[in-house]
Amino acid sequence: MTSTTVQEGDLQAEVTIEPERAARLEEFVERAVRAAAEFRRLDQGAVDQIVWAMVVAGLEAATDLAELAMEETGFGVLEDKVVKNYIATEFLYDYLKDKRSVGVIEEDAERNIQYVAEPVGVVLALLPITNPTSTALFKSIVGAKTRNAMIFRPSARAARCAVRAVEILQQAGEQAGLPANALQVIPDPTLDVSQYLFHHPGVDLIWTTGGPKAVAAANAAGKPSISVGAGNAPVYVHRSADIRMAVMDILISKTFDASVICPAEQTCVADEAIFKELVAEFERMGARLLSPEEVEALARVAFDAEGQPEIRTVGQSCFNLGAMAGLEVGEDDKVLLAPLPSDLSALAEHPFVQEKLMPVLGLVRSPSVEHGIDACVLVTEHGGLGHTSAVYTRDDDVVERFSAAVRTGRILVNAPTAVGALGGVYNSMTPTFSLGAGTWGGSNTTDNINYRNLLNIKSVSHRQAPPQWFRVPSDTYFNAGAVENLRQLGGHQILLVTDADSEARGVPDDLRSHFGEAGVHVFTDITPEPTEEQIRAGVAVVEQIDPDVIVALGGGSVMDAAKAMRLFYESPGLTMRELSLPFLDARKRVAQYPEKEHKVKLVAMPTTAGTGSEVSPAAVVTAGPRKLTLVDYSLVPDMAIVDPLLTLSLPPPVTADTGIDALTHALEAHVSIFASPYTDAFCLQAIHLILGALPRAYEDGSDLDARTKMANAATIAGLAFSNAFVGVNHALAHAVGACFGIAHGRANAIFLPHVLRYNASLPSKFMPAPGYSAYVAPEKYAQIGWVIGLGGKTEEIARERLFERVDELLVKVGEPRSLAELGIPRREFEAAVPELTRTAFEDASLKTNPRIPMIRELTELLQVGYEGG
Ligand SMILES: NC(=O)c1ccc[n+]([C@@H]2O[C@H](COP(=O)([O-])OP(=O)(O)OC[C@H]3O[C@@H](n4cnc5c(N)ncnc54)[C@H](O)[C@@H]3O)[C@@H](O)[C@H]2O)c1
Ligand SMILES: [Fe+2]
Repeated sequence: MTSTTVQEGDLQAEVTIEPERAARLEEFVERAVRAAAEFRRLDQGAVDQIVWAMVVAGLEAATDLAELAMEETGFGVLEDKVVKNYIATEFLYDYLKDKRSVGVIEEDAERNIQYVAEPVGVVLALLPITNPTSTALFKSIVGAKTRNAMIFRPSARAARCAVRAVEILQQAGEQAGLPANALQVIPDPTLDVSQYLFHHPGVDLIWTTGGPKAVAAANAAGKPSISVGAGNAPVYVHRSADIRMAVMDILISKTFDASVICPAEQTCVADEAIFKELVAEFERMGARLLSPEEVEALARVAFDAEGQPEIRTVGQSCFNLGAMAGLEVGEDDKVLLAPLPSDLSALAEHPFVQEKLMPVLGLVRSPSVEHGIDACVLVTEHGGLGHTSAVYTRDDDVVERFSAAVRTGRILVNAPTAVGALGGVYNSMTPTFSLGAGTWGGSNTTDNINYRNLLNIKSVSHRQAPPQWFRVPSDTYFNAGAVENLRQLGGHQILLVTDADSEARGVPDDLRSHFGEAGVHVFTDITPEPTEEQIRAGVAVVEQIDPDVIVALGGGSVMDAAKAMRLFYESPGLTMRELSLPFLDARKRVAQYPEKEHKVKLVAMPTTAGTGSEVSPAAVVTAGPRKLTLVDYSLVPDMAIVDPLLTLSLPPPVTADTGIDALTHALEAHVSIFASPYTDAFCLQAIHLILGALPRAYEDGSDLDARTKMANAATIAGLAFSNAFVGVNHALAHAVGACFGIAHGRANAIFLPHVLRYNASLPSKFMPAPGYSAYVAPEKYAQIGWVIGLGGKTEEIARERLFERVDELLVKVGEPRSLAELGIPRREFEAAVPELTRTAFEDASLKTNPRIPMIRELTELLQVGYEGG
């Protein structure tokens, strides 16, 4: 902490140093390096004993050291210098005593991170002329707390007192176990010494407290440095302020050590409405208002022809300053008030706009809050950026405006800046003699620098797999006759969403009798792979009817459409674009789904045995050339009615396609990075049921047992993938399905054999997932084979048998084995490949696949899907 007025000179000058002096400096550094190595071996207990001994010695020497500083510098106030020394010892100790600075200093049990502290090593610490002994005490104690060896560079005009302060602490510390030479001072004031050490490889950190040139030189040395620079604190007194308190605070602070302290108030900007009252109170309390002529006379002695501060005026009493300027000033006058121009450009030109390390306070009359804040900003721009400012007001709005505008690291509200900024007296800020001034002041921090800034803190972060979940809808009714449960719905208005085919088959009519008294409206404008337009049209119908319940009766297409309709009905502002934003981790995604309770109940009644949409948080919507997947648990229907009787009418190809979709869900969820014992159980059962029942349901659609098993299996697989999600097979199917108009299950069937083998082979790139700690996909396929009774002595055999069973099933149920077989022309396909690859790559389903599908691999899978075999 020092100021523009008193600095070490131009430290940036190029210097060469004679060999003998260099050799001496080398010895200093060598000793420091040895001390640092020894220090590193001490534990927390030993360190705290040393700190205690140093604090005690510092406290006992507080007055002696203050006297020495007075003698040597010739300025300041003895009593206040003693207070500074107390702050640097007593207050610092109070802050440090319970702090851990060695080894594990902090543990975050919830996030499973330990923080381990290590010393920096050798710290080159520059001391200011303004607080030579207090800063020496402060930096020595902080150095000891952090087990660093310190090499001090005192200010040329305050070297002896600093040497003495450090000596006292080294001696006291050593008796308590402080390594020899842990604290050294190089009193030789020449600048080349500092410059030499700035660049010395043995110095690990530069800790500068000084004027802007010292800060710039330290920063230019090209090694880590904590640099804190000059201040020029403005204080704004608003009309709502407590005037008596403001005046008293400012007088305490401005007279503190005769203002030889960088956060001291420099210019008081006072609201016009209270200006007179404020000045009167200042005078009543012992301040002396200067006339314009007196201000001019004082400015002439305080600054030289270049506007540089005159050192002989620094830290002088009002009386002495008066004598120098030829003014009549009483011996008891505490502070000289220097009225400065209100006009901001005139203020900027005035010599007193800058820092005045003497009891002279600029005074600006301000016509408005806006002007007042502008004037304060202007003051900081003359040497005080990043440092300290203050505002006196009872109006929170003024505090807010002031703090938004003024660029200082500390903004004190209704408190004195000099004593306040040091922390611990008027507030709970960290006690310090090193006030970070942020990038505005050439510093890398605005902290009140303390022990943490002198540590290398290592985060020992333990592996953590986030907890998982298993969420299912509240009610699921299944088996033949489950539609009966519609009776318990109640409600006045029911909107039955379905498609034209179902209506043609008379299904809605059959159901009417189950709805009791409620009015039933039927909406049928949904086609397979529903589009956004269909959904928006559906929303208009919902708005018109205002139902209590929406019943979705149909395949995945109808159920997905109904889910999306409810979503957009309840939250009209949402857009597909926002909701389908890509994401890496579902828990961190940017898209925001509504969290409020549903206005409308949604009941899903699947008429296909495939998608699992009746229990799932997903809805697939075709938007232009793409299929977009909306995923969120708010989409899950409130009730699922899984009645196999509704599926009896499914024609064989649809039975096959939808059944293969269900199988793909279970196979993908089983190897997903989100797979859990919960979802595994559901996957295994679903796969078992489908492999047995699908060929039968396909061959004989009226086989109720097979239909029942398929209906249940599809819902069970839905419960699994609702929590573990799917994988690359679905990504490819979505892309190809939308591009060539292929039914979803059929598109899955094309890729299934290839994706199984792809996931079973060694990944070119693993998926980073903390819950997936080994590449278990190949084993999990084998596990399926065993559990469903395919036998096989080795994992490989069991896995192969499963894959063969899947291949056989696809043949049995008449699934096409390639896109070529579906009649897609080769040229058309080749032309679409780049876009298909891209679409699949961006599909949300990819994120839970066990291996990361590389773009090249997606293209290969697409090509294999085209050729088949
Ligand atoms: N939301 C999810 O979790 C999820 C999961 C997978 C797939 N999907 C999506 O679901 C859609 C596919 O659903 P789907 O496979 O159930 O097919 P679908 O709903 O498109 O129905 C296919 C055809 O079968 C007809 N149909 C339905 N039930 C019938 C019955 N009982 N008798 C006679 N005909 C009947 C339909 O009218 C339609 O023409 C795709 O858009 C797909 O992307 C959604
Ligand atoms: Fe699917």
